[in-house]
Amino acid sequence: MVGTSRETLVELLRKYGQEHVLQFWDELSESQRDALTQQIASLDFEQLDKLHRGPGSQEDWGALADSATPPPAFRLDGSKNRFTADAAHAAADEALKSGQVGAILVAGGQGTRLGFPHPKGMFPVGPVTERTLFQVFADQLLALGRRYGVRVPLFLMTSPATHDETVAYFQEHDNLGLAAEDLHIFCQGTMPALDDQGRLLLAERDRIFLSPDGHGGMLAALAKSGGLAAAKGRGISQFFYFQVDNPLVTIGDRTLLGYHLLANSEMSTLVVAKTDPTERVGNVVSVDGRLHVIEYSDLPLSSAERRNADGSLALWAGSIAVHVLSAEFLQRAAGSAESLPFHLARKQVPYVDASGNQVQPEQPNATKFERFIFDLMPEARNAIVVEGDPTEVFAPVKNASGAEKDTPELARQAIVDRAKRWLAAAGVGVADGVRVELSPFTALDVQSLKSRSLPKQIVTDLYVECES
Ligand code: UD1
Repeated sequence: MVGTSRETLVELLRKYGQEHVLQFWDELSESQRDALTQQIASLDFEQLDKLHRGPGSQEDWGALADSATPPPAFRLDGSKNRFTADAAHAAADEALKSGQVGAILVAGGQGTRLGFPHPKGMFPVGPVTERTLFQVFADQLLALGRRYGVRVPLFLMTSPATHDETVAYFQEHDNLGLAAEDLHIFCQGTMPALDDQGRLLLAERDRIFLSPDGHGGMLAALAKSGGLAAAKGRGISQFFYFQVDNPLVTIGDRTLLGYHLLANSEMSTLVVAKTDPTERVGNVVSVDGRLHVIEYSDLPLSSAERRNADGSLALWAGSIAVHVLSAEFLQRAAGSAESLPFHLARKQVPYVDASGNQVQPEQPNATKFERFIFDLMPEARNAIVVEGDPTEVFAPVKNASGAEKDTPELARQAIVDRAKRWLAAAGVGVADGVRVELSPFTALDVQSLKSRSLPKQIVTDLYVECES
């Protein structure tokens, strides 16, 4: 398409009422024209037209919430669970030992709320070591591999905004210890935004505004980058999926993975019990026997506040965006382009107006389109929900210091608190006010910590590392 004449482009664009993206064409250099032409070639105008004409593309969340019931789940108290936790752990150990498990980390978000000017994975989260989020995950993967005598590959999704810096970071840090063949970094796709008239916005005179297509973009991007095929080639049958913001994630979580395998599930998800109806997490619900996630922003207050006779929340299951997905299911879903719907969000999108001025809108002026990976859940066979203890599995870094929730300080505190609990269970005292962080090479869980030789008392800030 590069080198296409202006007339040909106009003809294509006119069909969809988008000729304005060429309004500065005469001022552009040859290379700018080529870049703009390439952008135009990459757009699916039919799809954009359909999205603009909606509303068929947008789910009626209110109606879905009205018929939503709590999802059947493997609960923490275990009394009604179909399988025992021991059986789950044994099944998970088997899959891990035979190298069938890979990890998918989605890290394409721009971390705007945190206000950190780099990919969020580079954020120093370790309370004692200041290890970055990426390092926390890489260490866990290496420790997991060591424990089971295998290598656990990481499929790491970036976006155009985070890709180059992420790749450079891994290169500069020797892939954080991961073997080159165990690290597959791939970039997600983008979508344009449309104004109220369904017109594309220009970010610059020579560039159409594009933004990441949501973490659901992982499906197409993993397949397109060859990641799915590479995983299949090395015998990966299950993917452990997690987000870049949660340093408490237990990669390869034996309870989640084990129940997933025993239930023969294609997609399983880890939830925590909500304590507040308006908590800012997705709500995992059941509708007509299928699992769905309704975002907090889409859940009507009347549904969020529904309570059981004992006062507990009816829609209790808060998603922490940790899933296990079977490779076969991902392969099947990737094969049908429309398997994930778009979510529409009204946003303020800066743009260049017809006179060439940069406009910074004060009100939402455009619609952005994103796909979410959890929308695969209704399509998955035997999908299950597993409850986790929030203090053990969830402390996301989302907001800047000073916010009420999900700050770096709270995440660091949660890392220290969990380490202290595990150490206490292993008979180790920690003096008040002392910060401890556990190396995953020392212990991936509380059980393995108990078999280590440890000091009786920790009195200064310490990164607990021991080889035996
Ligand atoms: C997300 C979930 C919410 C869940 C919560 C748990 C959505 C829409 N909501 O909320 O249900 O309860 O996490 O912490 O996902 N990302 C990409 N590419 C993108 C957009 C996001 O890779 O185009 C990644 C981010 O890097 C991040 C993750 O997806 O790792 C979550 O994105 P974010 O937009 O921050 O979701 P939340 O609103 O925090």
